[in-house]
Amino acid sequence: MSTTETPRLAGKVAIVTGATQGLGADIARVLAGSGATVYIVGRGREAGEAVAAGIGSPARYLEADITDDAAIERCIRTVIDDCGRLDLLVNNACSYNDRGLASSRAEWLATLNVNLVSGAIFTQKAAEVMRPGSVVINLGSTGGKFGADGRAVYPASKAAIIQITKNFAVSLAPLGIRVVSVSPAWTWSPSVESMTGGSIEKADAVGAHFHPLGRVGRGEEVGRAIAFAASADASWITGIDIPVDGGFSILGPDQGRSPREWFARLQPEG
Ligand SMILES: NC(=O)c1ccc[n+]([C@@H]2O[C@H](COP(=O)([O-])OP(=O)(O)OC[C@H]3O[C@@H](n4cnc5c(N)ncnc54)[C@H](O)[C@@H]3O)[C@@H](O)[C@H]2O)c1
Repeated sequence: MSTTETPRLAGKVAIVTGATQGLGADIARVLAGSGATVYIVGRGREAGEAVAAGIGSPARYLEADITDDAAIERCIRTVIDDCGRLDLLVNNACSYNDRGLASSRAEWLATLNVNLVSGAIFTQKAAEVMRPGSVVINLGSTGGKFGADGRAVYPASKAAIIQITKNFAVSLAPLGIRVVSVSPAWTWSPSVESMTGGSIEKADAVGAHFHPLGRVGRGEEVGRAIAFAASADASWITGIDIPVDGGFSILGPDQGRSPREWFARLQPEG
């Protein structure tokens, strides 16, 4: 952006759920950097206030468990009382609790409640105050597009999020509200950090096998795609899923390698 250009989201007011850490915090930082006032909604006052303080004056932390309808309503009322408008909702909060086929009914319902149902209810209540031109962005995932062992609940929630993005886009189009999902692949965040002992080099080295661009994603890259999708530059885009995945989802099961390469792996060494 040149120094004379108006930031993409100048004057806009955004809520990002689950923004006390991880991608949510990165997304909040990018949106604020694009000119938006950002409300960080989450559980964890200390972490949430630290993210808001790091961003500076156009950010505020709101403590809320998004599985509680009254808490969602309180968040929206606070934003409207403060700013008189809500232009962007980013449904980012998630639970990774998932034991695949072994998951109990209670575990299914708990994870779906956070990932799918709470975002749907947040969208329903936000749409009541949003003006034409507003946007809802849902975090999907490559996890919601492919089979994987040991997981079922989280991927099912993400597949359903990509689906309700289409339904809500149609339902909210008459109000001039766009709805889009953004699906990252592996992205540097606490969950990836915990698997690599905090080594981004290790994450990139392993991620290079699955992402044609040769590494794992960065939260800011997801944030920038969201800032674009939320802006007037995307005014004719609704209902679709935007992969932000370094090419992960364009690969087939052969991971983009030729049969010759796979057969060569069978040859005995030496
Ligand atoms: N990290 C990745 O590689 C990756 C890949 C694809 C998609 N995603 C998606 O990006 C989003 C963020 O992922 P992340 O890895 O940063 O997750 P994370 O676990 O680091 O953060 C999720 C946040 O949601 C909050 N949260 C959970 N339940 C809540 C509730 N009931 N009320 C309020 N907040 C609640 C948590 O406290 C946490 O701050 C998710 O939607 C995830 O599916 C992440």
